[in-house]
Amino acid sequence: MPEKVVEYMRPAGGSVYLDATAGEGGHVRAILQASAPDACVVCVDIDERALRAVQAGLKGFEKRIRLIRANYKDIGEIARQAGVDGFDGVVLDLGFSLSQINDAARGFSFDSDGPLDMRYDTSHGVTAYDVVNTFKPEMLEDIVRDFGEERRYKSVVRAIVHARERSRIEGTAALAKVIASAIGRHSRIHPATRTFQAIRIFVNNEMGNLKEFLETVKDFLNVGGVLVIISFHSLEDRIVKSAFRQLSASSVPSFQILTRKPVTPDEDEMRLNRRSRSAKLRAIKRVS
Ligand SMILES: C[S@@+](CC[C@H](N)C(=O)[O-])C[C@H]1O[C@@H](n2cnc3c(N)ncnc32)[C@H](O)[C@@H]1O
Repeated sequence: MPEKVVEYMRPAGGSVYLDATAGEGGHVRAILQASAPDACVVCVDIDERALRAVQAGLKGFEKRIRLIRANYKDIGEIARQAGVDGFDGVVLDLGFSLSQINDAARGFSFDSDGPLDMRYDTSHGVTAYDVVNTFKPEMLEDIVRDFGEERRYKSVVRAIVHARERSRIEGTAALAKVIASAIGRHSRIHPATRTFQAIRIFVNNEMGNLKEFLETVKDFLNVGGVLVIISFHSLEDRIVKSAFRQLSASSVPSFQILTRKPVTPDEDEMRLNRRSRSAKLRAIKRVS
């Protein structure tokens, strides 16, 4: 929702903005265009490949962007590397990008076969393969229930455990098949959707990162600066909503919520991008 991000952030010349999940650079470009000729955007992504794509896609803007590979939760370190005390606007667009899901080798998709990876940062950490093949059933149940909001989590986990006793579950297609055979298809969405989402959220500590970011972001937003967060999961939106409420209740620094209700994409965007259907945008401004 680049137009909506710009509408709330109101980027202006001479400022420094942070896109903490630069992805494919769509929001970066919109902010740069709206803040011509001299505002800068610090572009952060945890995925090295995403940053390379941002760089390639923003030819002509080299002087106005700064690329930093980092986890957005480390906003203090990001500001230090960027050489600023704070930002005049920050945007966070959570989850995965289209190029990540469309690349079977990243292991995010059940539509095509790939290795069970699902990490945004492939340099270290637990993979989906580890989760699926080695985690205790109780732990798997917690993940699938809490992060996938999958009502049939017990059946899903029973099927995974049963399958892995015979042989390791090697790829995304095999996992999707195990899940589909356990719970069948009851709605328009693929039966593996919720379980894949749950494993991805766990592998990347998505809820933990978001909470940590929300605890520290207030110290790195300049007066007048707007924080825009786009989430795709009801749990994430709940975390954002509650953090914004707490921020707006504090007096020093003080904040004003700009979106009483979450803003959703318009019909055209939903038609163009199916995933955007679950997007919810919230914005808050630092007033003093
Ligand atoms: C939905 S995409 C962003 C798309 C972007 N707004 C655009 O216009 O192209 C989310 C991006 O966030 C990145 N990401 C996920 N978790 C992250 C984290 N903890 N720190 C930094 N980047 C992260 C992913 O690698 C992905 O590229």
